[in-house]
Amino acid sequence: MAPLDVLAVASEIFPLIKTGGLADVAGALPGALAAEGVAVRSLVPGYPRVLDALDGGVAVASLNDLFGGAAHIVAAHASGLDLFVIDAPHLYARDGDPYRGPGGGDWADNAFRFAALSRVAVLLAQGLVDGYRPDVVHAHDWQAGLAPAYLHYAGAIEPATVMTIHNLAFQGQFPAYLLSSVGLPEEAFSIQGVEYYGAVGYLKAGLQFADRITTVSPTYAAEIRTPAGGMGMDGLLRARADVLSGILNGIDTTVWDPATDRHLVATFDADRLALRAANKAALQDRFGLRRDPGTLLFGVISRLSAQKGIDLLLAALPVLLDGGGQLVVLGSGDASLEAGLRAAAGPDVNAHIGYDESLAHLIQGGCDALLMPSRFEPCGLTQLCALRYGALPVVAHVGGLCDTVIDANEMALAAGIGTGFHFAPVQAEMLAAAILRALAVWRQPDVWRGLQRNAMQTDVSWRRPAAQYAALYRELSRATTPHTVIARSEATKQSR
Ligand code: ADP
Ligand code: GLC
Repeated sequence: MAPLDVLAVASEIFPLIKTGGLADVAGALPGALAAEGVAVRSLVPGYPRVLDALDGGVAVASLNDLFGGAAHIVAAHASGLDLFVIDAPHLYARDGDPYRGPGGGDWADNAFRFAALSRVAVLLAQGLVDGYRPDVVHAHDWQAGLAPAYLHYAGAIEPATVMTIHNLAFQGQFPAYLLSSVGLPEEAFSIQGVEYYGAVGYLKAGLQFADRITTVSPTYAAEIRTPAGGMGMDGLLRARADVLSGILNGIDTTVWDPATDRHLVATFDADRLALRAANKAALQDRFGLRRDPGTLLFGVISRLSAQKGIDLLLAALPVLLDGGGQLVVLGSGDASLEAGLRAAAGPDVNAHIGYDESLAHLIQGGCDALLMPSRFEPCGLTQLCALRYGALPVVAHVGGLCDTVIDANEMALAAGIGTGFHFAPVQAEMLAAAILRALAVWRQPDVWRGLQRNAMQTDVSWRRPAAQYAALYRELSRATTPHTVIARSEATKQSR
């Protein structure tokens, strides 16, 4: 099969810069696609941490004015990724995370910082760099949403575009008066354009103009077409349902491998499950909990936000503790949730407020069950890691959690196919019931071990999803090759 070139556009990429699962996906998918004959170049903003991580790097193009300053486009390799990096100090050379300053508020010029990302994507798509012309531009989340719109208003029919929704809660809305400053024509300000509830909507723009829309699980692809799950975009997504599909995320199974994980106290695999005990003991020590191998230790690794249902967990905590469980939490986010978790600390529950990659691995390798009481979850990656590490996921029956965890109900237990526990509706009482169900199975060690083995055998790699993305790209690039365009016009002639 002919190799295919894809330009992936993302505002974060693991291991260079990460605030959430988007970075994991952007960082792992290119490697998996290489095995499918797809060459991915990833375009990312040149935040200080990204520039520092580059292995060399060559300026392959310069722009005199990229929204208020000069920029160099640097081609570089880092951590196995082929990158184009936008070195534009006026936009990206600052402390803080990709979206917010040290004070916690969004950067005031985010409209320009991410319009620049899309602008450069389109310039690259149209031949800015000699010898490089991608077949497909793949835009991730609102930060890349203007790319399909810029191509549309430039009258370009190629390259083809894919817009992936990682989280519909983040939509990138900016005041209408910025329309022309971000390089969009007046006509774009309409329902058929980028207008969204009186503002310029970057995600809306991408959803309106991309050739194909994907999201990160089949169930979320269905949920977002409903008023309950669509966050205001459901009408548009219903109208574009014929080009919308769900492709599950995978995880990087070399980064997340319990047999080789250097963050663990003891490595293990499905045949040497007893070795997990050393990680559990280390985790109990690290969080100052009673060291007891017989207690069911629940873990959480999460952004602390309403999405993730951490308030439900706080409400269900008495049931967890009365039932004889323990809980460790790693996360940061909403101040009230952080305070609630701190206040709950005791001999059987404790939280580490912060972001800690290494501790996340130890929790996966040491806890017995991983809780994800999400109100909505486009895909979720932590439950995939948990499956691979034999920590049974206890999950809300929503989005990608439905698609990746098999509930150990009576029939699944009888058939020997369960990998975790689901609960619905997403309420504290139902979470508490699922926790009790997990505690009941925990008292049957052979059954628990069987579920752990099932979980660890689940294919959570990028193999299947990468093949699905590759098929999508190929279908699109066939549809936009000049050859097909001629064939299309010939067909029109014949039908006249
Ligand atoms: P989301 O992107 O909505 O936050 P995902 O489950 O898709 O959720 O991805 C979250 C990613 O971030 C996972 O790789 C998870 O391990 C990691 N993560 C989340 N919170 C922390 C934390 N406090 N410390 C370390 N890693 C974290
Ligand atoms: C988002 C979603 C999460 C998903 C991740 C990567 O942050 O909240 O469910 O796994 O993106 O696609």
